[in-house]
Amino acid sequence: MIVVTGVSGALGGAIFGGLRVAAGTAVAGASSSGGGAGVRHADFDRPETLERAFEGARVLVFVSAGYAEDDVVLARHGAVVRAAAAAGVEHVIYTSLAGSGERLTIALPHRWTEARLAEAPFDVTVLRNALYAEIPAGLALAGVPAAAESGVFAAPLGTGRVSVAAREDLAAVAVRVAAEAWQDVASGGARRHAGRTYELEGVSAVGGHDLAEVLSEVLGRPVAYRPVPLREARAGLAGLEAYQAGHTISTFSNIGAGLLEAGGGDLPAFLDAPRPARDLIAAVVRTGVSSAR
Ligand SMILES: NC(=O)c1ccc[n+]([C@@H]2O[C@H](COP(=O)([O-])OP(=O)(O)OC[C@H]3O[C@@H](n4cnc5c(N)ncnc54)[C@H](OP(=O)(O)O)[C@@H]3O)[C@@H](O)[C@H]2O)c1
Repeated sequence: MIVVTGVSGALGGAIFGGLRVAAGTAVAGASSSGGGAGVRHADFDRPETLERAFEGARVLVFVSAGYAEDDVVLARHGAVVRAAAAAGVEHVIYTSLAGSGERLTIALPHRWTEARLAEAPFDVTVLRNALYAEIPAGLALAGVPAAAESGVFAAPLGTGRVSVAAREDLAAVAVRVAAEAWQDVASGGARRHAGRTYELEGVSAVGGHDLAEVLSEVLGRPVAYRPVPLREARAGLAGLEAYQAGHTISTFSNIGAGLLEAGGGDLPAFLDAPRPARDLIAAVVRTGVSSAR
């Protein structure tokens, strides 16, 4: 059996759905909120729920649960590693963060988790995921009203670009790796993904000018990009939790410094045609604009 955590989330839900079609074995979901057909209750904040949730799993797809302070995420992820070992899981596939994100504040809990997994008594595959294309898509969408009115798209991206991947593409890779890990565990053959770390960097990069171009295409009027200073951007994040504001500024800061533009990676080895980020962003903006009309 394969168990997938985080199935009420977008990534975990897509992996769960894909594996139910492709895995060739029983697949159970696990979620902090529980509920739903074939979904077990697994709340990383309540370690006592985890061993039972992982019972019978030979392969575990461990989707990170990163929306919290670092100490909370470390406690959550440490509990998952311990429970997987106690439940006798044979192979854990962890969704981490791509190497280009090494200097992001969110890298710390991911790298800590990778280190705990490396010490554990099961095989491990690390899927180092790119930032989602949905992130710049959200920025572009938020910029629609101002761009429509003034022809300006303002964002704190400096002159840098970020390599992003569609969440669906990252889910598709996780589905393939988990299904193959299952085949190898079940057949007793060589475990082709054991001990591997895959850098799933985005194959296309976008920056402020690219997003302004997308807005211009969708809105049918010229739109110019205006870089916003980080100080001004930080003031606009006052409604967020302090840790969220920190992670958000760290992301803008890394993009502005040009650190999130990646050169190559393993994504094309898994997918015939990774979805171009620009098309995905344009589709999100187009949908947002037409549903607002
Ligand atoms: N690569 C990127 O750009 C990027 C961006 C944002 C986040 N991330 C990371 O990738 C993960 C999945 O992304 P997503 O887009 O699917 O996020 P999402 O839709 O917001 O889902 C959040 C995830 O966190 C899990 N979670 C929260 N609290 C939990 C708890 N106490 N115990 C167990 N699970 C808990 C949820 O799982 P349940 O179903 O169990 O509630 C859910 O899978 C995030 O959690 C985050 O660590 C990556």
